Amino acid sequence: MTAAKAVSEREYKACCTSFYENEAVAGLLGEDFHPGGAELTLHMGDRLGLKTDSEVLDIACGKGASAIRLIEAFGCRVTGIDLSAMNLEKARTAAEQAGCADRADFIVGDAESMPVSDRHFDAVISECSVCTFLDADTAAAEMARVLRPGGQLAVSDVVVDGEIPPDLRDMMLRFACVAGARPVGGYRDLFTGAGFMDVEYEDHTYTLEGLLARFRRMFLAWRGIEGLLKIDPAAAIGVTMEQVEAGLERAKAELAAGRFKYGVFFGALESERTE
Ligand SMILES: C[S@@+](CC[C@H](N)C(=O)[O-])C[C@H]1O[C@@H](n2cnc3c(N)ncnc32)[C@H](O)[C@@H]1O
Repeated sequence: MTAAKAVSEREYKACCTSFYENEAVAGLLGEDFHPGGAELTLHMGDRLGLKTDSEVLDIACGKGASAIRLIEAFGCRVTGIDLSAMNLEKARTAAEQAGCADRADFIVGDAESMPVSDRHFDAVISECSVCTFLDADTAAAEMARVLRPGGQLAVSDVVVDGEIPPDLRDMMLRFACVAGARPVGGYRDLFTGAGFMDVEYEDHTYTLEGLLARFRRMFLAWRGIEGLLKIDPAAAIGVTMEQVEAGLERAKAELAAGRFKYGVFFGALESERTE
């Protein structure tokens, strides 16, 4: 890797991390940084068949809301990894407040080289995050490395239909670092290439309508703040109110045209792997 690429990789990851640490973004997205909220997380836990003795890894866990829900619903142990030390501190506080800190660990780490041992986990989840990873192939190989034989995967993510025009990719990067979203077949190839079998896609595109409606309500509140207090909430994430409005209109049109989907990919490793 060249020095220039290393710097830009570092800059990209720092930019993505600070985006998800931003208070304005937290206000927009709420507790969860993924479409479908608690309902979809619990559905993934059900499909994974989590039990009290399950060891689960939540890759790019954000503020830990999903980890806590899984512990509360299934009694499992969850380790959350994220690049953001600030959001992991919030996750630890939230786990303590929920009374489940003894079943939760939150560690700073990069999905592309995770500080956890081989073959340790029964299940890996990752919500709305693979599309933010710079090197998704390496992250998928890491998922396979840390799972025990027969371990299971549930990844929810933004799915695109067909080629994405460069200006739309640019918007996806600027507004949510989700420019790495790929078609269903692209995710299938990604996980199959890492050694997962029977990779299945389950569609939950309806969750994007709810997220967009939430963004529109928050944007109206931002307009109110701007008018009353003469504060520009969009500036906090480095964009203008006009760009946010244009982004929302574009997202609505692209959703109506079927350009975006959202869903969960399930897969499993072979029960006994040969090295
Ligand atoms: C859309 S948010 C999803 C957060 C969480 N999974 C949720 O559903 O609330 C994307 C997350 O990916 C994290 N992230 C991005 N690149 C990462 C990487 N290479 N390694 C670990 N975390 C990463 C960000 O810090 C952010 O918390």
